[in-house]
Amino acid sequence: MPTFKIAVIPGDGVGVEVVAEGRKVLEAAARREKNLRLTFRSFGWGSAYYRKHGRMMPADALDTLRQFDAIYLGAVGDPGIPDHVTLHGLLFPIRRDFDQYVNLRPATLLPGVPTPLRDKAPGSIDMLVIRENTEGEYADVGGRLSRGGRAAVAIQANVFTWEGTERVIRFAFEAARKRRKHLTSVTKSNALAHSMVFWDEVFASVAAEYPDVRTRSMLVDAACMNFVRRPEDFDVVVASNLFGDILTDLSAAIVGGMGLAPAANLNPTRKYPSMFEPVHGSAPDIAGTGIVNPIAAILTGAMMLDFLGARRAAAHIQQAVRAVLAAGTARTPDLGGPSKTRQVTEAVLAAL
Ligand SMILES: NC(=O)c1ccc[n+]([C@@H]2O[C@H](COP(=O)([O-])OP(=O)(O)OC[C@H]3O[C@@H](n4cnc5c(N)ncnc54)[C@H](O)[C@@H]3O)[C@@H](O)[C@H]2O)c1
Repeated sequence: MPTFKIAVIPGDGVGVEVVAEGRKVLEAAARREKNLRLTFRSFGWGSAYYRKHGRMMPADALDTLRQFDAIYLGAVGDPGIPDHVTLHGLLFPIRRDFDQYVNLRPATLLPGVPTPLRDKAPGSIDMLVIRENTEGEYADVGGRLSRGGRAAVAIQANVFTWEGTERVIRFAFEAARKRRKHLTSVTKSNALAHSMVFWDEVFASVAAEYPDVRTRSMLVDAACMNFVRRPEDFDVVVASNLFGDILTDLSAAIVGGMGLAPAANLNPTRKYPSMFEPVHGSAPDIAGTGIVNPIAAILTGAMMLDFLGARRAAAHIQQAVRAVLAAGTARTPDLGGPSKTRQVTEAVLAAL
């Protein structure tokens, strides 16, 4: 029987709440299968750990995590600690050091889910946004000149390597081949004449190997507009780290919001563990009130099972979530309902 070892990092705020719910659903889905065993080990890293130890996770955290098959993470972020400290102390080192170069963010409008867009039928929005996840604008290269006041200077470098750009674009082409065979590359080549023109060149060179996939390039400002105006025109979308980050808040918003948006940070070579976390953050405005929507984390758990090869269990979770959303009886306030977090989880467990 395949046994998968899952490292759990609940993190901060609602991260702790949604990961607990997601874990219940993962355990229930595994119990249904004859051939699947999941073991979990939880790590109390994050902002509380930072307050005690001056760092977000221990120095040997990556060595510890390396021994697991996957990492299931809630969110990090605390109103009392600068965001760049929490992100650079935990999320970014894991994504980078484990070479999780694909950030996969599906956005599908499911039956029963309200969208802020007018006249959009369920299924009409069905896109997969693939974000480069280890370099680009988030490469963490730069610094400040130490002159103070108005003479101060900050430099943040974007780093685009051929290899790093090519591999994520290739992943996007492969994904498009399994879907509607249409890939949109999002750039800003009119203004960023070095990095984005380079991206376009890499895109064209990979595209030559995939004549069966229709392609187009779109500037990021136009892409933002078209995510709202004509979202049904998108199938697979590939973008740099920054653009993908911004676009996926928008893609999440048009299919029901942060409470439903799952994500995966993949190391497709499987040399290192991949990490699965919902798109949303620690939501300090609702943390501890028992109303956070657990569905994003639950669907994130399904993405984890799918990547590990437990496809049937993953599909069962997705079907259960669809049934609960379509029935509309258990809904947290972000979807306009009165339900508590655990009532939504109970409904998903019952549907399983
Ligand atoms: N991957 C991560 O860990 C991650 C991602 C984004 C933001 N953050 C951090 O989280 C903190 C809060 O950031 P933010 O407020 O910009 O983004 P956020 O995603 O935490 O919240 C944005 C809004 O969406 C709502 N929301 C988010 N998830 C929800 C859910 N599951 N159910 C219902 N409502 C939900 C929140 O209540 C809030 O109004 C910051 O410290 C930020 O740095 C972390």
